[in-house]
Amino acid sequence: MANEKMIKLKVNGAVHSVTTDPERKLLYVLRDDLDLTGTHYGCGEGQCGACTVLLDGRPTRSCLVPVSAVEGAQITTIEGIEKSGALHPVQQAFLDEDAMQCGYCTSGMILAAVALLRRTPHPTEDQIQQRMQGNVCRCGTYRRIIRAVQKAATISAVKGGAK
Ligand code: FES
Ligand code: FES
Repeated sequence: MANEKMIKLKVNGAVHSVTTDPERKLLYVLRDDLDLTGTHYGCGEGQCGACTVLLDGRPTRSCLVPVSAVEGAQITTIEGIEKSGALHPVQQAFLDEDAMQCGYCTSGMILAAVALLRRTPHPTEDQIQQRMQGNVCRCGTYRRIIRAVQKAATISAVKGGAK
């Protein structure tokens, strides 16, 4: 189409070239063009956090960001946080604490928690609630999510930090 442009995206350490409308939202490019379907569509309006990815380490609503705005940024999705087949400490803690029911919010919750623990390795319960309040869980598993983030902080401390 006439208004399409070739855009280079750095996702999970790999460079991808996509030809698309520059105003198209990152969420749709990740899911539909790059097949990274772990990033979920919830509200499409920046209200739920299901579409959270990390942009240069910052949790970001991918449903709101035009793909042209993130050219050159390091984009991390849920598929990109395990290392050499080992789950990230936050992923492991979510499993250990059974911090999911339907799982729809989980990838966004995990990425929000990864960003939180990088900035604040030993968060209080209040800090976890505050920093993750923009991520909505329709199943109401908040208590277990908080326990999982606390457990991830412990696992990360043993492993030398949440990377
Ligand atoms: S789908 Fe992006 S915030 Fe809800
Ligand atoms: S586990 Fe169902 S929305 Fe959170």
